[in-house]
Formats: sequence, structure tokens, C-alpha cells
Amino acid sequence: MSKRKAPQENPNEGITDFLSELANYERNVNRAIHKYNAYRKAASVISKYPSKIKSGAEAKKLDGVGAKIAEKIDEFLSTGKLRKLEKIRQDDTSSSINFLTRVSGIGPAAARKFVDEGIKTLEGESAVAVSLVGGNMYFEDFEKRIPRKEMLEMQEIVLSEVKKVDPTYIATVCGSFRRGAESSGDMDILLTHPNFTSESSKQPKLLHQVVEQLENIHFITDTLSKGDTKFMGVCQLPSKDEETTYPYRRIDIRLIPRDQYYCGVLYFTGSDIFNKNMRTHALEMGFTLNEYTIRPLGITGVAGEPLLVNSEKDIFDYIQWKYREPKERSE
Ligand code: TTP
Ligand code: MG
Repeated sequence: MSKRKAPQENPNEGITDFLSELANYERNVNRAIHKYNAYRKAASVISKYPSKIKSGAEAKKLDGVGAKIAEKIDEFLSTGKLRKLEKIRQDDTSSSINFLTRVSGIGPAAARKFVDEGIKTLEGESAVAVSLVGGNMYFEDFEKRIPRKEMLEMQEIVLSEVKKVDPTYIATVCGSFRRGAESSGDMDILLTHPNFTSESSKQPKLLHQVVEQLENIHFITDTLSKGDTKFMGVCQLPSKDEETTYPYRRIDIRLIPRDQYYCGVLYFTGSDIFNKNMRTHALEMGFTLNEYTIRPLGITGVAGEPLLVNSEKDIFDYIQWKYREPKERSE
């Protein structure tokens, strides 16, 4: 964070705004990652341009601005808007998907599923999908960050309930919270159990019984999606008195095989920039690292068998990197 540049004046904010909006639309609704990247790149180069752009042709001289984008800039400069964007904004499906991905933290594919289901089942069945699409109170709540003090209370509840189900579970609250952040966007929980490894068969029950327990005590209030290894949902701290109710919060719980647990903890602790840097260093040292495993790369570049990992530090050791506490992992 410390290296982030001070905010600068952007004389072309109107243009960069519409390019960003188009980028998000391409990624979230169409899942067109190349178009997304093209719009992003153009927005980025234009945001650094020091003077007010007067025509598409002027913009087109910049690296990353092609003919089609130049045309849109001309349209925007002469009419003050973009027909393509007006249409997108009017389309219920795409605006719902965009909105969902922006505020709920769920991915584009899941968002599309909710929107499709929500629209299909407006009469009843899928209450959550409908309420999400209908834009009920969750939306506003999900946009609020969670103060660390509340994260600590949430952690206390989750860890103690997990132990009640089975004391041999291991659970870790990851994400920005683990990095010591003063506030977090959501709660990311990783869960494992000694009986569950990548060699053993699936054990969704290990995840579901924890979710059920948290539902029983009314901490988890809703389910966005529930699979064998990943739960995405909504939770809420119990009110302390009649006046104060806490906002609804996004919570994800992932069940991870015991042998992959620390690669998972490392990955989901982030930050994403830190992860990227660490993966790059791993590659330089001849290892491939992801959220599941660390594997040595052979001379032909083929990954070998996963290495044994019993702590996060083991992973740092393999790639001969000085261990960094979660607090020191912002980049
Ligand atoms: P997030 O919950 O998205 O991020 P966060 O917990 O750091 O921040 P916030 O307070 O806003 O919730 O994801 C959790 C971790 O997962 C993140 O710190 C690093 C990892 N991650 C990646 O490495 N790449 C990604 O694209 C995403 C979404 C997450
Ligand atoms: Mg998070």
C-alpha cells in the first residue's frame, strides 16, 4: 500500500469511467476476458494522459487505444454518452450480474446463476436468489466493511462452534483479517480435518455439519451456494441489546484436505499482490505454487509430485524465502 501513488488529477475521467464500466461488463456479464483487458488497458493509459483528450484520433495515438475504442471516445465526446452503455444499463440481467459481482464478492459465473434462477423463480422457491436480485437489505450491508472488533467476535463464535462439532477440526480465519487489517470486506474461513486428505474420498459432511451448527445458532442466516468443499453465505452477529442489530456479512467456508491446508491458508491470507510475488519467486527457484500445492519443476518444466507441507513456513523454506508474518504480506 505504501508504494501506491498519490491520487492524480485525471482530465479524462469521463472517458476512463465509461471504459471501466465497459470492462466490468465484458468480464462479469460476457466473461470476455480479452475485451475486459483491452478496455482496462485503454482506461489505464488514458488515465495517465496529462491533458484533456479532444478526439478519438488523438486517443488512438496512445498504445492500447484501437480504432473501436477511438470511435467510442468520439461518440462520447460529441454526445456525452454511449449508446452501447445505455443499452447495457437498461438490461436487467446484465445490471444485476454486475451489481452482484461488485457488492457480494461472488464470481461472475455464480452471479449469473443467481440472476437466472432469481428471474426464473420470482414466484417463490429460491428466496435468497430472489432477495439478492430484488436488492434487499443484504446489498447495502455487503458494501460495508467489517470492523476488526466485529471480525474478532465472529472469529470467536466460528472457532468455538467448530470445536463443539468436533475438537479435531482445524480452522483459520484468513483474508485481510489474518493480515491484521483494521476492517475486512468479508470473512474467509479455511477448515480441515485429520481424516480428510487429498488421497481420501470426498467428505462434504465435514463442511456441512459445521455450516449446520452455525445455522442452528443463527449465526449463518443464508446460503448463497453450497458445494462439497465450499460454502458461500451470509452471517450476522447476535444483537447485544434491542437497539443494535449488526449488518449482514459475507462469509465463505472452504474445506481443504489436510495435506493441502497450509498452501490454502497461505493463498487465502493473501494479499493477492503478495501471492503473485511469492509465486513468481517460487518459479524463479524452480517450484510451482498454487492454492493447493507446491511442486518442484523438472528441467523440462513439468511439475513433479506435491511436496510435504506442515506449515506455511515450510513453503517459504522450500523456495528459500525469508518467512513473513501475515501482517507483512501486503505486497
Ligand atoms: P478476498 O476476501 O477477496 O480479499 P481480502 O480478504 O484480502 O480483502 P477484503 O478485506 O476485501 O475481504 O480474498 C481473500 C484472499 O484470497 C486474498 O487476500 C488473496 C486471495 N486471492 C487471490 O490471491 N487472488 C484473487 O483473485 C482473489 C479473489 C483472492
Ligand atoms: Mg476477505
